[in-house]
Amino acid sequence: MDPASGDGRTALVTGANRGLGLETCVQLRGLGFRVILTSRRKDEGIAAARGIDPSGTTVLHHPLDITKAESIANLAADLPALASRVDVLVNNAGIGSWSSDPEKDRRTIATNYHGSRDVTDAVLPFLPEGGRIVMVSSGLGELSTLGPGPRARFSDPALTRPALEALVAEYLADLDAGDPKRSGWPSSYSVSKVALNALTKILARELAPRAVSVNAVCPGWVRTDMGGRSAPRSVPVGGRSIVLAATLPGGATGGFYRDGKRISW
Ligand SMILES: NC(=O)c1ccc[n+]([C@@H]2O[C@H](COP(=O)([O-])OP(=O)(O)OC[C@H]3O[C@@H](n4cnc5c(N)ncnc54)[C@H](OP(=O)(O)O)[C@@H]3O)[C@@H](O)[C@H]2O)c1
Repeated sequence: MDPASGDGRTALVTGANRGLGLETCVQLRGLGFRVILTSRRKDEGIAAARGIDPSGTTVLHHPLDITKAESIANLAADLPALASRVDVLVNNAGIGSWSSDPEKDRRTIATNYHGSRDVTDAVLPFLPEGGRIVMVSSGLGELSTLGPGPRARFSDPALTRPALEALVAEYLADLDAGDPKRSGWPSSYSVSKVALNALTKILARELAPRAVSVNAVCPGWVRTDMGGRSAPRSVPVGGRSIVLAATLPGGATGGFYRDGKRISW
């Protein structure tokens, strides 16, 4: 089956009431996917879904706050009634934090890393052979943002899930101790996306026997609420980068992409 043609297959997108998530839904639907548009704010999500598909047949809405275990469990419980399977999962929901507010930093990790991880684990049973997972990451998640200590550990090709969890916990402990920069940590946003990239590689390895591909994508710097008005890229161009990663030809897995081209992590 042509991966670039939806052909009635189902895609689920998180954080899709606005910005890149919404645009990803528009473009995936344009390719023929049935889309489950999820959002933590129900009314906004329903309005966004109806804005794309007034009939509600090709774009469905389901509430999902990726930081809330109950919300994730509700989605998983309702999924069988929405679709027989999820062919493509796009973990797009995210927040940015470049301040020096430890509470915001913790929320950034809880959303961008733990939230995307937990949604993936909950949706995994619905992914068929040939299914695809896309982690919306960022150029700010490149290994070069880390100091030499954390960099060597994150880039270890044999990194396991428990070791990754320990690394993220170490960052949170350094945050609690008050001086994460001293231990070589960049912004919480960068840490969250580095960890997401590391999880991408681990999941790609774990899911290879099921022929489920897992890739990370950078949409570029885009004019959304997060990216701001001076970003050079339009939302459709950034969304296209995500959609290209969701429809890569062949069984490409474990990579980091921008505009359909592999970039270095
Ligand atoms: N824009 C850029 O330049 C850029 C560059 C690189 C990577 N990215 C990544 O691209 C993704 C989308 O960003 P964007 O630019 O479209 O940002 P955005 O316009 O701020 O949209 C973020 C989306 O994530 C949702 N979200 C936040 N926390 C959530 C939660 N706990 N549960 C469910 N949804 C949640 C927001 O929902 P609410 O409306 O409820 O807040 C919103 O729909 C993010 O992962 C971001 O890190 C963006």
